[in-house]
Amino acid sequence: MDSHSILKRIENVGIVPVIVIDNIDDAVPCAKALLSGGVDMMEITFRTACAAEAIAKVKKEVPDMIVGAGTVLDSDQLSRAIEAGAEFIVSPGFSEEVVKTCIDKNIAVVPGCVTPTEIMAARNLGLNVVKFFPADLFGGIKAIKTLSGVFRDMRFLPTGGVNLDNISEFASEKCIVAVGGSFVATGKDIRENNFEKIMELCKSAKEKIFSAK
Ligand code: 3PG
Repeated sequence: MDSHSILKRIENVGIVPVIVIDNIDDAVPCAKALLSGGVDMMEITFRTACAAEAIAKVKKEVPDMIVGAGTVLDSDQLSRAIEAGAEFIVSPGFSEEVVKTCIDKNIAVVPGCVTPTEIMAARNLGLNVVKFFPADLFGGIKAIKTLSGVFRDMRFLPTGGVNLDNISEFASEKCIVAVGGSFVATGKDIRENNFEKIMELCKSAKEKIFSAK
């Protein structure tokens, strides 16, 4: 799928779960739990050794899931993510090299940008969606709305401190393309195989997102 279509899918689902897979056997059940909760999007983070393997396995065994790679810090991780089949790339910060490679390959890329300078760097490369991380520490929705008043053609994916209590205040704003976070599938719940709980949390998150819109 081209980068534009992936970003449209992210907007449609309204949430990008940030997933940490410690044990490769948890990847597919986690993906299925998210899907059963109505979330067909997941960002598997390069924070653990099995991230690339998890991306490839979910792609193969859960074809309805759109799988991206998160916490992509450099070109080496980017190559491994692309090779594994990642359909979108998320970074905590802005790497020109990572962004340019993704643009060349028509892979959706969402770099973390919280300052006007970082947002301008992303915009200058043609991006109109950036991650805003860690959202809670960088001023939350108040900061995003202020930035959005200046960068009117940019949309934001806030992550970091987003939860069921504050999700509505993000989701109700037009400048928010979707919210991201680990709250629907925490590392602990994945490790403990609480897949029913993950499914229920996805349903609650989606309900809140769509009633806020
Ligand atoms: C991210 O990578 O976006 C964050 O780790 C997610 O933050 P959260 O765990 O507070 O949701």
